Amino acid sequence: MTENKRQFRAIKGTRDILPPDSALWNWFEQTARNTFESYNFREIRLPIFEETELFARSVGADTDIVSKEMFTFNIGHDAESKEEPSQTYSLRPEATASVVRSYIEHRMQTFPGNLKLYYVGPMFRRERPQKGRYRQFYQIGAEVLGQSDAAAIDAEVIEMLMTFFKRADLTRTTLYINSIGDKNCRPQYVEKLREELRKVADRIGPDSQRRIETNPLRVLDSKLPEEQAIIGKLPRISDHLCDECREHFAKLKEELRLRGIAYEENWRLVRGLDYYTRTTFEVIAEGLGSQNAVCGGGRYDGLVELLGGPPTKGIGFAIGTDRAILSLQESGKLPSLPALAVFVAWMGQAAYLTAVNIAQKLREAGLAVELPPEEMKFKRSLALADKLGARYALIIGEDEVNSGTFTLKRLADSDQKKLSKFDLLEYLESERRDTRA
Ligand code: HAM
Repeated sequence: MTENKRQFRAIKGTRDILPPDSALWNWFEQTARNTFESYNFREIRLPIFEETELFARSVGADTDIVSKEMFTFNIGHDAESKEEPSQTYSLRPEATASVVRSYIEHRMQTFPGNLKLYYVGPMFRRERPQKGRYRQFYQIGAEVLGQSDAAAIDAEVIEMLMTFFKRADLTRTTLYINSIGDKNCRPQYVEKLREELRKVADRIGPDSQRRIETNPLRVLDSKLPEEQAIIGKLPRISDHLCDECREHFAKLKEELRLRGIAYEENWRLVRGLDYYTRTTFEVIAEGLGSQNAVCGGGRYDGLVELLGGPPTKGIGFAIGTDRAILSLQESGKLPSLPALAVFVAWMGQAAYLTAVNIAQKLREAGLAVELPPEEMKFKRSLALADKLGARYALIIGEDEVNSGTFTLKRLADSDQKKLSKFDLLEYLESERRDTRA
């Protein structure tokens, strides 16, 4: 009996985004869309699951994301279907792999100019949930694919990101940049790093010890306090870049300066995905505790080829929307978003028809209107209007019907005026324009 009545709850690491927060999310995402479109980026909508192999090949089979954090399933054998019974799929842990898959599948190299795409949507990683870290989280990402690897592309992508943060008033941020070299110089550096790490292996933790062999770059990411002094003395990639990579990084910094973008160099910024070459960057924001990265990105020349496509350069980033919103909420600098404009307080059947009619007119004019479906005493109507946060109550009773007027009450200060239908529409429309401006 009790078992049947058990209440369902959102699964650990997932959550509901309720109003009024959902309005803040929509505004944040819309601000990103507007900003990105002003840089001539266009939206791509991608599937939420892909073949597991796509992520293993692009993000890297040995990364935490692929080896520990993916939600993987198979559809099961169906005699009717031609699908491979052994095929496994994963909920996407990120979207760059899907963008690249789609680029190849639709031969987008034939599209004119550099391809500039953005996406908005949920990603899934089986991480240990905590503040700012969820198993279903949301990203707003952008990618540029094409033939050129000009540092001006990297700089424009970063400029667009920082412009968006400024427009969204997410300003207590720091941009970190780094270059992690390419296939010509990184392997030698990684070998050098490995040699140095072997010498100090007995003084570092088990995770870092394991990474000496699997992925020594990831040791630089360690947050363990006892490893910091040791890591500080390790060789730095900036001293081991080949000429081309060093020039590219110098050009990037020059481009950022000429665009007026403040940055800090961080030689330990290696990122947890395998596809990066040269430029990597991250933005951290205040008010988030340990999960303070609100955006990560970088260049991934060669990934298209790795997945079977033509030689192509690529760069992009993804913003963690959950964290960006948390940081905005902590800063208290929230935008004033359109709320309920008019509550129609009607009483008496004669007033009802007028109420339905004026609600339609006001909604048509773009105002948010609440029309109670059942008759209420004026006192209760006004109390509810207040609780719902309406700016105005529009009172329609017998007097108003008889005189063909409306009583408009501003709830903040109880200022009240009697208006004809024409004046009412005019007044509310101009008020709406003022509050939006
Ligand atoms: P990423 O650094 O793995 O990069 O993720 C980007 C951002 O997503 C992070 O900075 C963080 O804000 C957010 N994020 C990641 N995991 C979680 C989580 N469990 N809960 C909440 N937020 C999270 C990528 O995903 C790359 N695809 C970015 C990229 C695009 N690089 C090139 N193009």
